[in-house]
Amino acid sequence: MMSLGDGMNELVEAALQARRNAYAPYSGFSVGAALRAEDGRIYAGANVENAAYPSGTCAETAAIAAMIAAGARQIRELVVVAGGDALCTPCGGCRQRIREFATPGTTIYVAGPDGVRESFTIAELLPLSFGPENLK
Ligand code: THU
Repeated sequence: MMSLGDGMNELVEAALQARRNAYAPYSGFSVGAALRAEDGRIYAGANVENAAYPSGTCAETAAIAAMIAAGARQIRELVVVAGGDALCTPCGGCRQRIREFATPGTTIYVAGPDGVRESFTIAELLPLSFGPENLK
């Protein structure tokens, strides 16, 4: 388990709290995510599944939507927390969504119920990515 500063503990707590409210009756796999934005605030989200399975959404996507709705635009760091033994690294679609609002060094912390297990930069998770600059 990684030992982290105070601000990080707050972020992990927010992700754990969101995970408790996850709606995952189909997979049984509850996920929480929390990010700190450039305004210093924390935005959290949980996965929201649907009886029409492909309409479900990931925790990371929900946290990003909360950030955008509040007017923030930059992800400083993000924590994703899930159960199970394997690392719950963000899915491909969420890597791209995170990347839109990140810098290459933005850190993604992957946690289990007991705390942070590993961390990666978004550039590690999504190398050679396509982003807003590619449209200029
Ligand atoms: N899920 C997330 O919310 N975030 C991830 O990083 C991986 C997967 C959700 C989607 C689905 O509701 C459930 O976990 C199983 O895939």
